[in-house]
Amino acid sequence: MTEEQGQNYSPLAFIWGHLFASFSAPDIDLTGRTALVTGGNGGLGYAAVLHFARCNASRIIIASRSLTRCQAAAQKVYEDVPSYRGVVDVMELDLSSFANTIKFCQDLNADKGRLDIIVANAGIQPKPETFKQTGDGYEETLQVNGLATALMGVLLLPKLEETAGREVPAGSKGMKPTLSIVASEVHYWSKFPQANAPGSLIDALNDPAQFVDFNERYQVSKVLSVFIGRELAKLPAVTSGKVLVNSVNPGMCQSAIRDNMGPVIAWIFNAIAWSAEKGARNFLYSSTQPTMPGAFIHHCRETPVSTFVVSPKGRETQEKYWKECLDIFRKLGVDSELDRAL
Ligand SMILES: NC(=O)c1ccc[n+]([C@@H]2O[C@H](COP(=O)([O-])OP(=O)(O)OC[C@H]3O[C@@H](n4cnc5c(N)ncnc54)[C@H](OP(=O)(O)O)[C@@H]3O)[C@@H](O)[C@H]2O)c1
Repeated sequence: MTEEQGQNYSPLAFIWGHLFASFSAPDIDLTGRTALVTGGNGGLGYAAVLHFARCNASRIIIASRSLTRCQAAAQKVYEDVPSYRGVVDVMELDLSSFANTIKFCQDLNADKGRLDIIVANAGIQPKPETFKQTGDGYEETLQVNGLATALMGVLLLPKLEETAGREVPAGSKGMKPTLSIVASEVHYWSKFPQANAPGSLIDALNDPAQFVDFNERYQVSKVLSVFIGRELAKLPAVTSGKVLVNSVNPGMCQSAIRDNMGPVIAWIFNAIAWSAEKGARNFLYSSTQPTMPGAFIHHCRETPVSTFVVSPKGRETQEKYWKECLDIFRKLGVDSELDRAL
């Protein structure tokens, strides 16, 4: 077996890619398929919803903290894609609460319908210089982008696996049920200082003294997204060949994610960013095309992850992170659901 190669992605390479990368949305008919987009009421998530509507997905589920915002987005889909004849449903999901995340997954697992695509897109960037903990006692970015996204992946893999056993819609024959974890190119730039802390990695990430700054924390959280994609890809639903899991980078896109940084900085970023429509082509690609399990998708193609992720230290950190995630999940009263997936 050849050693996996990582790559560095310099700021210059980023600027070059941002200026010149050209890729189109895959042309696929998703009639008969159901797609879930977390954080699908705005920004990149809503752009992904529109891609799925243009591809005729029969059912689209938009989930976020606000049912009102999700309902408004669901109505807008029919204005933005007038030809769309499918159903758009909404669900409440708050990844900053384990109890809410578990309820969301239980409701979806109890749903009689199929689930072909999950774009785990909901994510946050912390407010500058603000260490904020959730009601569960974890730093918010760690819980939303890291822990709860991983928990949702584990709890919903059996639903994707069950869907794999259902009839395959004619327009998208080769496609496996797929979970795409939304990561970012910023994972290339993370120094992941907490990886060197002795003892628990999650304790280190949850220690205010080890919260370097909001930017570093966001970068670390996107390394965690890559880790989650690679670890979920080792689970039986994926190794059996029934289901696909990968992680995906949309590129720097217009959205509300930088609103935390103040109106001027957010405006500057949005002025130079890609449209969310362009970035979300990556989500359509990662969730419908036959990638390698655990692959990282960037500019609509499989791309090496960072040199840190594939380094011995990175592999050790990934394994440690995953083990500690599972230790936390085991304390949440969902043992039977975990056993189904692991
Ligand atoms: N924009 C970029 O340049 C860029 C680049 C690389 C990667 N990304 C990634 O792309 C994803 C989408 O970001 P975006 O830029 O589109 O940001 P955005 O416009 O801020 O959208 C974030 C979405 O996540 C939802 N959300 C936030 N907190 C949540 C929670 N606790 N539970 C459930 N849903 C929650 C929000 O809905 P509610 O407020 O209704 O909950 C919203 O729909 C993120 O994972 C981000 O890290 C973005």
